[in-house]
Amino acid sequence: MTDPVLSLNNAALSLQGNAGRVDILHDISIDVQRGETLGLVGPSGSGKSSLLMLMGGLEQATGGSVMALGQDLTVMNEDALARFRRDHMGVVFQSFHLIPTMTALENVAVPLELAGARDAFDRAEAELATVGLGHRMDHYPSQMSGGEQQRVALARASAPRPDILLADEPTGNLDGANGAAIMDLLFGLRDRHNATLVMVTHAPELAARCDRTVRLMDGRIETPAEIKVAE
Ligand SMILES: Nc1ncnc2c1ncn2[C@@H]1O[C@H](COP(=O)(O)OP(=O)(O)OP(=O)(O)O)[C@@H](O)[C@H]1O
Ligand SMILES: [Mg+2]
Repeated sequence: MTDPVLSLNNAALSLQGNAGRVDILHDISIDVQRGETLGLVGPSGSGKSSLLMLMGGLEQATGGSVMALGQDLTVMNEDALARFRRDHMGVVFQSFHLIPTMTALENVAVPLELAGARDAFDRAEAELATVGLGHRMDHYPSQMSGGEQQRVALARASAPRPDILLADEPTGNLDGANGAAIMDLLFGLRDRHNATLVMVTHAPELAARCDRTVRLMDGRIETPAEIKVAE
């Protein structure tokens, strides 16, 4: 077996807030292989988004290690992390994080351009058409519904064909038809490019399509990662 694409070993996350230290994740050990899809499930506040942020190097572990493609994210500085994400990762945040002053097309195309793609705008158009937003390319985020913004965020994350795609509730705001289209897009990334997907989801249909699901409870992995949990 080849090395895992993501490997967390006793990873922990504590954050310092005004009200003191908050321990958010404890003892997280998990390996994710190339081409694997992992679903993260668990109740609100259990730490799913926080774990995704650790995997993306968007939060620094305060204990243990977080390895991605053989590199230790916990020792990289901000610049190195940003480059690593640009070259290898796509992230879809729970709150989308679109750039408000850019149209849908620009939100997708500009990161592609920054990553050196020559046909960035053509690719962005194709990607937006895939998520059913061919008619919304010139709209700004404030002119789009939540589900539409979510689809732009997904097009932006998947357009560079990342090795690793981290998505926080990618079908959360979508109806059945759009949710199914998004699932096809996500799993297409895996099938065509052997991408590794980690998705937070409450949707049983999405969890069921994952190779494995891991349930979090109070910042810990509740079920061993090897066991497929029926939702
Ligand atoms: N910046 C922060 N400072 C302090 N506590 C935080 C911070 N971010 C998250 N938390 C706490 O960490 C815990 C886990 O939050 P997280 O967002 O990871 O949960 P979640 O499982 O994604 O929940 P949901 O399903 O509601 O999105 C929560 O108790 C939350 O209040
Ligand atoms: Mg969350």
